[in-house]
Amino acid sequence: VSESSQFCEAGIGYRQCGASPYSSSKILIKGGTVVNAHHQEIADVYVEDGIIAAVKPNIKVGDEVTVLDATGKFVMPGGIDPHTHLAMEFMATETIDDFFSGQAAALAGGTTMHIDFVIPVQGSLSSGFEAYVEKAKKSCMDYGFHMAITKWDETVSREMEIMVKEKGINSFKFFLAYKGALMVNDELLLEGLKKCKSLGALAMVHAENGDAVFEGQKRMIELGITGPEGHALSRPPVLEGEATARAIRLAGFVNTPLYIVHVMSIDAMDEIANARKAVSNVGEELRSFLCFRFVMSPPIRTSGHGKALQGGLSTGILQLVGTDHCAFNSTQKAFGIDDFRKIPNGVNGIEERMHLVWDTMVESGQISVTDYVRITSTECARIFNIYPRKGAILVGSDADIIILNPNSSFGISATSHHSRSDTNVFDGRTGKGKVEVTISKGRVVWENGQLNVAPGSGKYIEMPPFGYLFDGIDKVDSNYLSSLRAPVKRSKATS
Ligand code: URP
Ligand code: ZN
Ligand code: ZN
Ligand code: ZN
Repeated sequence: VSESSQFCEAGIGYRQCGASPYSSSKILIKGGTVVNAHHQEIADVYVEDGIIAAVKPNIKVGDEVTVLDATGKFVMPGGIDPHTHLAMEFMATETIDDFFSGQAAALAGGTTMHIDFVIPVQGSLSSGFEAYVEKAKKSCMDYGFHMAITKWDETVSREMEIMVKEKGINSFKFFLAYKGALMVNDELLLEGLKKCKSLGALAMVHAENGDAVFEGQKRMIELGITGPEGHALSRPPVLEGEATARAIRLAGFVNTPLYIVHVMSIDAMDEIANARKAVSNVGEELRSFLCFRFVMSPPIRTSGHGKALQGGLSTGILQLVGTDHCAFNSTQKAFGIDDFRKIPNGVNGIEERMHLVWDTMVESGQISVTDYVRITSTECARIFNIYPRKGAILVGSDADIIILNPNSSFGISATSHHSRSDTNVFDGRTGKGKVEVTISKGRVVWENGQLNVAPGSGKYIEMPPFGYLFDGIDKVDSNYLSSLRAPVKRSKATS
C-alpha cells in the first residue's frame, strides 16, 4: 500500500491524508512495562517488518528507527475481540459498521484483531464464506472468522469439513434463539456438536430458549407492552439459564468443548460455574459493562447481574471479554418504534472494550494487569489456536501492540467515536487508562488521537483446529468406552 493511498479518520467519514510520519518499518518502544499474560517487566520492544524482533532492556538502534517513549506506561498485546458482527445482514437491515469503519474504530480503541461471524447464505456455508471474503476486502487490521450453522443436511456437514480443512475456520456458532430466523433445535445442535468434535472445531452457542422467548414476546404484546422495555421483559434470565444449562449438558453428552457467547446473567453464569467444576472445558465470554437503553440479546440486565459477571471474570468462571459489536444507527433502531420485536438487536463496543475493561476491572482492583492481557487478548488467541503469533509480546509474534497510559483518562461519546453509528451505548462514560498508541502489524495506526489506516491492509488469519480445549477429550472417550465394556468382560469370566 503506497503512502498516498492511506486514509485517516476525521470525525465523520474518512479523508485522505499525507504520508504517515511513522512509515518506517522499524520501531523501538522504549522504557515501558511490557505485559504478557504470564509475566511483566520493564523492557524495550523492537519491531521490524511487522514482527517483534527483540524484547529486552536497553536496545540500541540507528537513526532510521522510529522511537516511541513508553516510560511510565504499559506496553501490551493489542486486544483481540472474539465476537463482532461487521456488515451483517440482520433483522431486515445491515449493521452500520463494515470491515473498514468497524476495524478503524477497533484500532482507535486498542484492538488489533477481531473474529467475526460468517452468516451462511440460505444455509450455504460456502456462499456465506465467499460473501464475507468480499465484505472483508476493505479490512485495515487482521481478522478471523467463526461461522454460524443455521440448517442441517449432508451438504452442510461436508461444508463444515471444507471450512475447517481448507478455509481456516475452527469454530461454529449455534443460535438457540431467534426463532424463525437463525434458531436451531436440539436435534441440529447435537448433529453440529458431533461434527465439531470430529473436526476439532469449537462449538459456540447463543444461549437463550428461542421458543420461550417467542412465547414471552406474545405475552408482552397481549399486555399492550410494545415499547423497548418489552424486549428484556420478554426474555428473562431464566431463559438464558435454561439454554446455557441445556447446551452445556448436550456438549458434555457428546464430550466436546463448548464456548458460551455473551453471558449476560447470573443464571447463565451459575450453570457455567457448575459445569467448569465437573468438565473443565467450557469457554465463555461476557460483555456489557452495564450499558442500557439499547436493545440487544440476551438483554442487558439490571440489578446485580453486571457486578456478578465482573466477579465471574475476576475469579475465572468467565475467561474472556467480547463485545458482540453489532451497531445500528438511530434510524435503524426506529424500525421498532411501535413494536420492540422489530428493533434490530445489537450494540457497539469494539472501540470501547479495552478502555472499559481496564477502568472497570483493573482500576477497581478486581484483576491484575497480567490478567487484563489474558482476558482481552491472550486467552482468545489460545482458545482459537493462534497463540503466540497473536496475544503476546514475544520475539516472533506479530507486532500488534498498544501503549496504555494508566494516568491518562478516556471519555466516550457518539460525537467523537469512530463507529459510523450516531449513537453509543456508553455515551458519557469516562474513566482512567487511555490507549495512546496502537501498532498493527508493525505500523503505528493510532497516535495523538489520529487514525492512520489503509483499507486492504488487514489480513485474514487462518485458525487451525484442535486447540487446547480439545486436550484430553480422546482420553475421556476411551475411559468411557472401557467403563461400558468392563462389566461385560467380568460376566464372561464368571460364566
Ligand atoms: O443483540 C445481539 N447480540 N445481536 C447480534 C447477534 C447475536 O445474537 O450475537
Ligand atoms: Zn491525517
Ligand atoms: Zn448471539
Ligand atoms: Zn453476536
